[in-house]
Amino acid sequence: MFKKLKSYHSVPDWTRLKGEPISSYGCVHLFNILDKEYLKSFFHDVVDFNIPPAVISYVEITGSIIPHIDPKPITGVLNFVIESADATTTFWIKKSDDIKEGKVDQVNFSDINKNDAPVFSENDLTKYGEVRSYSGDFIFMDSSKIHSVDMNNNLIRRMVSWKWVTIDYNLLSKNIKLLF
Ligand SMILES: [Fe+2]
Repeated sequence: MFKKLKSYHSVPDWTRLKGEPISSYGCVHLFNILDKEYLKSFFHDVVDFNIPPAVISYVEITGSIIPHIDPKPITGVLNFVIESADATTTFWIKKSDDIKEGKVDQVNFSDINKNDAPVFSENDLTKYGEVRSYSGDFIFMDSSKIHSVDMNNNLIRRMVSWKWVTIDYNLLSKNIKLLF
């Protein structure tokens, strides 16, 4: 469901990575990579993939996120944490198969009543595991599993995010190579 990989000793300058906004889901904001050569040169000796990612983006999270699953068909996400904002990501399982996600017509990961992403109430869930992240951490996760983010809402969480679609999480997991 999730894996904390090795931690790298330094992080890139995010001001060189933050490009045009792609999309926002509540407090999750995705941006194009501004300086792709800089990204490449930074990660060249750090990480490699046998299966190329579908999307690489710079991500900012500006507040805690209630339990949700990411919009399909994302099957695997590798996040490199630039600034953590003291965040803990928690993974959950449903207490029973009968529990259906909440769904309404607006995206807002901080309010279960304003959503078109699949979101859940903690009352219907059991905690599966959690990962506290720090600057330099690589975290690989199956974002089709229920997860939430608890963070310092006065800070901004900044990450580089590689995303894969439709390919099995376990297969992806075997094909991420850390080079340091
Ligand atoms: Fe998510």
